[in-house]
Amino acid sequence: MSIWTDFGFRASPYGTEPIPATEEGDRLLVGRDKPLSSLMATITSSALHPTIEGDNGVGKTSLVSVASYRLHRKFQTGETGQALIPLRSAFQLSASDTADSFAHRVYYEIAQGFIEHEPELRARGIDVPSTAAVDKWLNSPVFTTTGGGGSILGNGAEFTRGTEPGSSGFGEAGFASAVRTWLASAFPDLQAGGFVCVIDNLELLETSKAARTLLESMRDGILAVKGLRWVLCGARGIMRTTASSQRLEGRLREPMDLAALPDVDVEEVMRRRIEVFGVGSDVLAPVGPRGFRHIYELLNRNLRNALKYCEDFAFWLHENQDTATTDDEVFALFEVWLTTQSDAAFTATTLTPKAWEVFDGIVSRGGSISPSDHPDFGFKEMANMRPYIKALEETQLVVSSVDESDKRRRTIGVTSRGWMVNYARSGYKLPERLTS
Ligand SMILES: Nc1ncnc2c1ncn2[C@@H]1O[C@H](COP(=O)(O)OP(=O)(O)O)[C@@H](O)[C@H]1O
Ligand SMILES: [Mg+2]
Repeated sequence: MSIWTDFGFRASPYGTEPIPATEEGDRLLVGRDKPLSSLMATITSSALHPTIEGDNGVGKTSLVSVASYRLHRKFQTGETGQALIPLRSAFQLSASDTADSFAHRVYYEIAQGFIEHEPELRARGIDVPSTAAVDKWLNSPVFTTTGGGGSILGNGAEFTRGTEPGSSGFGEAGFASAVRTWLASAFPDLQAGGFVCVIDNLELLETSKAARTLLESMRDGILAVKGLRWVLCGARGIMRTTASSQRLEGRLREPMDLAALPDVDVEEVMRRRIEVFGVGSDVLAPVGPRGFRHIYELLNRNLRNALKYCEDFAFWLHENQDTATTDDEVFALFEVWLTTQSDAAFTATTLTPKAWEVFDGIVSRGGSISPSDHPDFGFKEMANMRPYIKALEETQLVVSSVDESDKRRRTIGVTSRGWMVNYARSGYKLPERLTS
């Protein structure tokens, strides 16, 4: 028995996870026709790997999921012979990764992918290794003594390597070359297909220099392996700067900019979720299409943050209110709740007038700026703006990171708390939609 059952849902309609590569995911994805077809075209037809640049929570990972799901479907239904197979999860890079450690993780996942999809690939005449052959490697000392096999199953982020010198050197190299051989015979060319692999959240590497260096070191390695179709995603301008590297030019396609879903489409996002997660006819959505659009605009068009606030409100509603029974009544309560939340956040925030001025300036520029925008704020030097940014960070109105390698990146951005505070501060006006 969950609170969602009480509202008439089988699960939360406000989950913030990316849309999965499933049929249900395909139903949940709203809009995005153009980016979907462009992404699918690059995956199926270009030697270059597609890249996507877009704010956090805008829908990058979801877009890639649905594109890979549809490509896989086309193969499954026989519409095409090009076997494009999504992996179970996306990869992320961290500062401690090297080209080798990353490649190892990838090959492990590919081996799993071969096992999982063997019947389907074999049935279509594709030359795949036998499960027994793959298993032999996965149970070999390469994995069992490095402890590597298990940890990736979780989130794909951690991978522990053995520290015993030379314990697995030969094994690892042998494993990598075995996987490459399997890939080359299953997918001799692009037309044959490949595994669709995702490097997500490139901005976790913090600086574009780190991202570029790491990706450049993979240029002739994992990014050039036959049978692997990569999709790279990043936020805050890191994908854009990275893809402009000369060395990666022959590998990566110029980034596709994913903009926020248009305000009008956003009501449909909630309609679909209510449809997909609702059971029976007695459904009362704590936040319906209209409320969702309101919070979406209030939070400056961030789907993930908007969903999170909806869930918070659902919990509040469940605990505090059981007389609201119509959509209009819950919408009215939601508006009041938002005003209260926003007032409380504003009241709890103490800043100097100059810091407020900087905050308002960031808001009026669409919610993100780069350190090099300092002259617009009346500062001669970047360093002069820094203390104000710091004060805004400490009160959690903005987040910022420093990228010494690219000071024009918009690494200073208003948080969802910041947008809530702005709502009270601006007399409950919704931020205007700026296109940058
Ligand atoms: N086109 C869309 N239609 C409906 N929901 C979406 C769409 N794009 C994203 N979402 C939802 O918005 C949230 C953020 O999407 P996600 O793909 O994780 O964003 P990003 O990868 O850009 O940070 C997720 O909960 C996802 O389910
Ligand atoms: Mg994502």
